[in-house]
Amino acid sequence: MSLSRVENPCFLLFLVIFQAIFILILYRGGASSVFRGFLDVPQPLDYSKTEDVYTNLSLFIHAPNKETMPYCTPQSPIFVGPLTITFNTLPSERTIISKNPYVQLGGRYSPPHCLARYRTAIIVPHRNREKQLRHLLYYLHPFLQRQQLHYRIYLIHQAGNGPFNQAKLLNIGVREAMKDDDWDCLLLHNVNLVPENDYNLYVCDEYYPKHMSSAIDKLQYSLPYWSFFGGVSALTPNHYMKMNGFPNTYWDRGGEHDDIAERVSISGMKIVRTPLHLGRYKMMDHEQISDYAENIKRPAVLHTRTTWKDDGMNSLEFKVLAKKQYPLYTNITVDIGDPPMLPSLSKI
Ligand SMILES: *[C@@H]1O[C@H](CO)[C@@H](O)[C@H](O)[C@H]1NC(C)=O
Ligand SMILES: *[C@@H]1O[C@H](CO)[C@@H](O)[C@H](O)[C@H]1NC(C)=O
Repeated sequence: MSLSRVENPCFLLFLVIFQAIFILILYRGGASSVFRGFLDVPQPLDYSKTEDVYTNLSLFIHAPNKETMPYCTPQSPIFVGPLTITFNTLPSERTIISKNPYVQLGGRYSPPHCLARYRTAIIVPHRNREKQLRHLLYYLHPFLQRQQLHYRIYLIHQAGNGPFNQAKLLNIGVREAMKDDDWDCLLLHNVNLVPENDYNLYVCDEYYPKHMSSAIDKLQYSLPYWSFFGGVSALTPNHYMKMNGFPNTYWDRGGEHDDIAERVSISGMKIVRTPLHLGRYKMMDHEQISDYAENIKRPAVLHTRTTWKDDGMNSLEFKVLAKKQYPLYTNITVDIGDPPMLPSLSKI
């Protein structure tokens, strides 16, 4: 008596195993394409072993012949991964200048040894944070040079003592920076955050706005909530205009990040993020951290859907009071006007 083939237990077993292997291959193929971005290149990730941010920067010296200078290598030859960052001693401006001999007036830099592949404008809203600014410049200049970028650091200084308006200052920074150069990438940067890993590239994503500061030390190196977009972000001029820039109407810190995150999705884009193990930042600002952490626990309630088309780059009004080139940055001082008076205040 012979069993038909399908009833043969050996054949059934074979079928099950074959299916399991098939599923495994599918799964692995899918997974590796998801992780491809950061599995291909081995990156040092041990944050207990850090290197000085100026390590081997002196290897970048003038090419013998400017005409035959090659393009920069896609990956920098001097990357070290995790960087040593402390805010214990405040470096003098003179120290920073002497450690960065290739930085030109206005905080501009082009690699001396190769043609840069990317042009990045760093835009930092600023008022009364001189010490934090100094720490930032000490770390950011060599960090950007390690990445072989053509870059310039802009400070957008809000004149007067009115409520601070970070998002409006960023709009102004974008408008002014685009007058100077054909930037590939607008890197919008809080003054109190310093990147901890030189593999965290200050280059834009081709398709979508990129949130860079995905893991901040004072926020336990994790996102406070899923749509968080504060700290450091990178947008191409195209991304920026597509979402009508940032809102001009958020005064005195708070809410604007969520409005911005909402704009990204309303305008048909999405947020991409630097992976948590690379997007690590150290935050300065001890006194205000409790406020800050309190502020960003949850997204604000917004009306972005009805306001974004009328509030942004197309409604931006300001006066440039001064544009001055310092050795380590370009300082653009602006009068951004006053917030509309609150009804309850105007009655008093
Ligand atoms: C610095 O560069 C030298 C010469 O290329 C290399 O041998 C050394 O490993 C580099 N140091 C670090 C910490 O990468
Ligand atoms: C930027 O310029 C303004 C106006 O000239 C000045 O008050 C401010 O101190 C400058 N800030 C920095 C950090 O250079």
